[in-house]
Formats: sequence, structure tokens, C-alpha cells
Amino acid sequence: MAATQAARELVGLFPPGTGVDHSGALVLGGVPVSELAEAYGTPALVVDEAAIRARARRYADGLAARWPNSRATFASKAFPCTAVYRLLAEEGLGIDVAGGGELTLALAAGADPAGLVVHGNAKTDEELRLAVEAGAGTVVIDNFDDIDNLERILATTRGEQGVLVRVTPGIRPDTHEAVSTGQSGSKFGLPVPQAREAIARLRGSERLRLDGVHVHVGSQILDTEPFVRAVEAVADLGEFAVYDLGGGLGSRYTYADRPPTVEEYLDAVIDVAKRLLPADARILIEPGRSMVAEAGVSLYRVVSVKRGDGHTFVAVDGGMGDNLEVSLYQQRFEAAIATRPTGQGEPCRLVGRHCESGDTLSAGVPLQDPRRGDLIAVPVTGAYTYALSNNYNGACRPPVVFVRGGAHRAVVRRETYDDLMRRDLP
Ligand code: LLP
Repeated sequence: MAATQAARELVGLFPPGTGVDHSGALVLGGVPVSELAEAYGTPALVVDEAAIRARARRYADGLAARWPNSRATFASKAFPCTAVYRLLAEEGLGIDVAGGGELTLALAAGADPAGLVVHGNAKTDEELRLAVEAGAGTVVIDNFDDIDNLERILATTRGEQGVLVRVTPGIRPDTHEAVSTGQSGSKFGLPVPQAREAIARLRGSERLRLDGVHVHVGSQILDTEPFVRAVEAVADLGEFAVYDLGGGLGSRYTYADRPPTVEEYLDAVIDVAKRLLPADARILIEPGRSMVAEAGVSLYRVVSVKRGDGHTFVAVDGGMGDNLEVSLYQQRFEAAIATRPTGQGEPCRLVGRHCESGDTLSAGVPLQDPRRGDLIAVPVTGAYTYALSNNYNGACRPPVVFVRGGAHRAVVRRETYDDLMRRDLP
């Protein structure tokens, strides 16, 4: 492959506004990478704000064009920081929250409570009460305890709560088993017979208003067929006012990945919806990963290069503390030396700094003459990285930096050693 073509292909995995300056270094949202590394240190999660906004509009406008009575809702577990909630609330999206913490963050960011969809397979009374008291528009019923508990809570608080019943349709998409949720045996939702039972019960409930049904079959799904089958499954449950079709569209992490586009996904689900769902129903979708993944770039500094045994280990100052996707789901990432992204070079194992053999960011990525001090950029890290970041080995969680039109600002600061000790009691 010609050098320039490899470089172009590599840059193509970065957010749409990414460029290369006169020295050949990456420029993210108009800001040279070395300026970002200098201002915020490494590791750092850089987010192209315009890329998230553009994606949100593609989802919202694309859905509305195909099915006007609809709403795109952001599955906030993919990136639960207030700046992201605020941005997506500004774009007019609803917000899906999984638990009291995400609910609190969404409210703090100014999200409209009526647009909140509250999930969880183990909602505590405290969380349900928080949702009811906040005026959350929708609570998704995952189990019969949710029904009992909500009815009990509503008896002492306000009048009515809108709910959806989550069904587990027995669909196993072709994705990593740890991110598949629609198969029978899943801990999420109710199998079809029990979902029907819950629906019947809710139809007789005084305080719970059954708005409809919900389905979510998995994440990082790279073809449209499982989504079509999910619509067929909810259509089979009967006629409702609302159908929430969940999230799950995959992102392009590597050159080889070819996920459907947002438009292909919407065409597929809305085509089947037009055949099978009532024409006056409201449709919700809950994309998480595909809303934010491609807007994020992780920056690291090379700490050591070790050759031997037929391997080149390039070790950086982050790893599974800020990106658990590889350890949990064997997600594959590409990477580049940020100041000279060629897409070529010797095959390297890009590894993290943590005491865990699985702490690998990329098992085989070409890097051109990697050296200590080089800046490494890993693209497509906007989803489920900040969300799953942790303090293993006493690592401080990285800052989140928004870039836009040549300007940059931290929206989450780096953790410090003081932060690490803050909850420890004498
Ligand atoms: N709706 C529900 C009810 C969900 O459980 C999820 C994701 C979504 C929507 C959004 O799915 P997405 O569009 O992001 O695929 N931690 C994993 C991913 C777990 C996804 C869990 N549910 C990871 O790091 O890959």
C-alpha cells in the first residue's frame, strides 16, 4: 500500500474534522495534538464536539424524516459526563439513564425529565423514588419487582408513571457474547411469555400507565438483520402507543469494520416498522456507542519500547485504567504515532502500564520507528472508555477535553493523587 494511502486510511478513522499539519502531525478539531498534550498532559481523552453534534443531528433528523412521531434518545452509559449530557440535551435528544447516578448527572446537566428513559435490571427503591420524584417520563420495567416497587412508591408520591415493558426476544446478534442482551438466558428484560404477563398486569394498574414495549438486543452490531428481527418481536406483542427499539449499532474501530451507516440502520428498522407497527405509534431509539465512539481520540505518551522474542512492545502511560474495551470485549483498536501518522511500520503490541497481561490497547498495530516520548493517538475511543475508567494500580483517570474550531477546553479534569485518597478514612 502506498504510504500516503495508508496514512489517509488511518486518518479516516479519526473524527471527520481531523487533519494533518505541515509537519505531518494530527490536528484534532483544529488543534494540533502536541498542543493538546502540552496543555492537558497524557493520557487524555479528546472529543471532537462537532462530531458528536453532527451524529446527533443525523440520528434525530434521519429518524424524524422517516417516522415523524419519534425521538432519538442517547444511551448515556456510553459517555456519562455532564458536558456530553448537556450537548445532547441541547441537540434535542432524550436521555436514557441506567440508574440513579446517570439520572442525577442528566438532571444536573439540564436534561428535560420528561425525556428521560430509566433503565436497570436491579433498580433499588431509592433509584425508583428518585426517578418518580424527578418526573422521569419513562421507567422501563425489567422484572415483576419493578412493577410491585413502583406501585408501592407511587402510592405515597405523585399520581401516575409512564412505563415500557422490556422484552427479551431470544435474538442473539453476531457480536461479543458480553455485549449481547437479546438472547434467551439474558439477565435483561422478560422473556416473551412473562412480558405478556407483565403487559396484562400493567393494563390493570391504576398508577402505572403502560405506554408500550422496549427491546435492546446487544451492542456493536455490524449488520441490520438483528434490528429488523427485534422490531418483528415487539410488533408481535400487540399494539401500543410507544415502541422503544433500543440501541446497538456498531462503530468502525478498525479498517476492516464495515458497520451499517446511521441511514442504513434507520432505513432497515423504519421499513419493518412501517409494515408491522401501528402508524400512529411513537418510536424511540437509544443509540449509545454509535453516537459518541467516533468522536473520541485517546492520547498517550510512549514510556518504553522493548524489543525481543519477536515482539515489539510499545508501552504507554495509560491502558485498562482508561480503556477497558479490550479486556472486557477484545475490542480491536488501531493506533498511530500522533506526530507522524503513517499507517505503516513494524507491527507493535501497544500495551498499557497496568499489572495485568490483558492490558493491551492493540495487539498488532504498525508504528513507524516508535520511541520513548512519542505521542500515540488511538481513535474511536469516545464510547464506554470514560464510562468504564477506573483506578487500577492507582492510576488517575484522564481528563476529557473538547475540541472545536481550533479551540479546546477541559470538561472533566484529570484525577489527582489527592482524589485517590479522598474517600479513604483515617
Ligand atoms: N439501550 C439499552 C437498554 C442498553 O442496555 C444499551 C447498552 C444501549 C441502549 C446502548 O447500546 P449501544 O448503542 O451503545 O450499543 N460496556 C459495553 C457495552 C455495553 C452496552 C450495554 N447496553 C462496552 O464497553 O462495549
